[in-house]
Amino acid sequence: MYQLRGVTKQYRRGKDTIDALAGVDLTIGDGDRLVIQGPTGGGKSTLLQMLGGLDRPTSGSVELDGVDLARLPEARLTKVRAESIGFVFQSFNLIPTLTAQENVETALVPLGLKGPDRRERAADALTSVGLGERRGHLPAELSGGQQQRVAIARALVKKPKVLLADEPTGNLDESMRDEIMEVLAAQWKEHGLTFIMVTHDSSIARKAPRLATIRKGTIKVTENDKAA
Ligand SMILES: Nc1ncnc2c1ncn2[C@@H]1O[C@H](COP(=O)(O)OP(=O)(O)OP(=O)(O)O)[C@@H](O)[C@H]1O
Ligand SMILES: [Mg+2]
Repeated sequence: MYQLRGVTKQYRRGKDTIDALAGVDLTIGDGDRLVIQGPTGGGKSTLLQMLGGLDRPTSGSVELDGVDLARLPEARLTKVRAESIGFVFQSFNLIPTLTAQENVETALVPLGLKGPDRRERAADALTSVGLGERRGHLPAELSGGQQQRVAIARALVKKPKVLLADEPTGNLDESMRDEIMEVLAAQWKEHGLTFIMVTHDSSIARKAPRLATIRKGTIKVTENDKAA
């Protein structure tokens, strides 16, 4: 479970200071699904970076299961990221010179798994997102939706507790968007993930059980009883 208290993030640009997060308090339970919306520049990606331990807040605490990521030494933070948190981004961020299979395997290297275990786990993860037949393809030999599915397999192959997705359907057309949302929903259900997703897509946001809106670094959470 996440417990955020008084989280602020300031970026300095020369003489200017930008308040990307202006005091965020937020609790996210295990297995919850939270959708984050809001205008551009509001602080959505900044918040995901704090949740993922990719960056540290200027003040406040970001506890994941009682451990404050804001104050964790870098080596332990790297370990938390490698073991417990999966990331999916708008731009799939696959390594162009590696096959789908090899891209997924990269996530297992920090866990110290042996070669054969890595290969088997990666192959299973690709099968679970419907890409078993495309393992040997390079990213350029896959459609956008397929590339994003490889990125989802890479995020989930280590069996993380948390999945963070920053506009995962932002680069996809409508049919691929639906396909990716189905894959993500299926994975969320199957693995009991805590799933936090930023999206600009109101049709996705309408279906969310819990919706956070971030404006000018301030968050407001609404529960939606009618959600699927
Ligand atoms: N590394 C950085 N250095 C300086 N300013 C930054 C940095 N990252 C973000 N910002 C600023 O912080 C604010 C919040 O940015 P953030 O990327 O979190 O917004 P966002 O809600 O994700 O927007 P978008 O919908 O466009 O992705 C913006 O004003 C942005 O310009
Ligand atoms: Mg963003």
